Amino acid sequence: MKSLGDDKALQELLQQINAVRGFSCDAYKESGLRRRLAVRMRACGVHTFAQYAQHLRENTAEYDRLLDALTINVTQFYRNADTWDRLTTTVVPDLVARRGSAFRCWSAGCASGEEAYTLAVLLLDEARKTGATNGIAGCIDATDFDVKSLKKAGEGRYPEEAFDAMPNSLTARYFHPDSEHPGSLSISDSVRRLVRFAQHDVTTDPPPNPPYDLILFRNVVIYFDRPTQERIFLEMANALASGGVFVLGKVETISGAARDILQLEDIRERVYRRR
Ligand SMILES: C[S@@+](CC[C@H](N)C(=O)[O-])C[C@H]1O[C@@H](n2cnc3c(N)ncnc32)[C@H](O)[C@@H]1O
Repeated sequence: MKSLGDDKALQELLQQINAVRGFSCDAYKESGLRRRLAVRMRACGVHTFAQYAQHLRENTAEYDRLLDALTINVTQFYRNADTWDRLTTTVVPDLVARRGSAFRCWSAGCASGEEAYTLAVLLLDEARKTGATNGIAGCIDATDFDVKSLKKAGEGRYPEEAFDAMPNSLTARYFHPDSEHPGSLSISDSVRRLVRFAQHDVTTDPPPNPPYDLILFRNVVIYFDRPTQERIFLEMANALASGGVFVLGKVETISGAARDILQLEDIRERVYRRR
């Protein structure tokens, strides 16, 4: 049960987080916010939102741990392998054939870069298989709100376990052991060259460089309330080139006006195409 005082203290806490760290929780589902705040409050040994606000003022390092908990940056190379298999057999070959030297993709909510680099690997590998003489030279915009994740993405070095879902042949071809960091692999320059990272908030910032041939927006929207989801879907649908492809996470579904613009192509893998 929550009291009115509890609501007011929550609002004050959220305002404080926004003022100090520029992170607005307005678009997030309240149930999810409360759940994740409760995890951090338990870890800090405080029981009310007001106590937690005070704790944050006295221990500013806690803001980092809280933002980690709120933004949930779990990811993996080749996450949800079936989706990537689907992209490998249809979407990627089509993209390389049609737009090989000028494709534009966007990984929105890219976390520490695994999704964007996976896409870069598939595009490069398709160019290799088809012997595209000029190779490929497009760009993948990879954006996230979380600066810490973006820093990790820019480093391009990952523990071996991050590759568990990725076919071994791809890992071996596009990543190499890092002699200074045993147990880690680093990306090759050819992969790195295709990806451009930037900070971006999908709830407030416009799409960075439309029109896009492909937008990956996976496992991000689930945290937002319905009106925010519908607004972002519409904005992203409009940011696609004609025939462009939109991919959501496995448990996410498009709603709102974007449904008039995007046609469902694969329900299981949440692949849509702009009409
Ligand atoms: C679970 S990860 C998804 C990573 C990747 N797309 C995947 O599916 O593996 C969710 C990411 O969304 C980011 N995120 C959350 N809210 C955001 C916002 N308002 N704008 C941009 N990114 C956001 C988080 O920082 C986190 O890195």
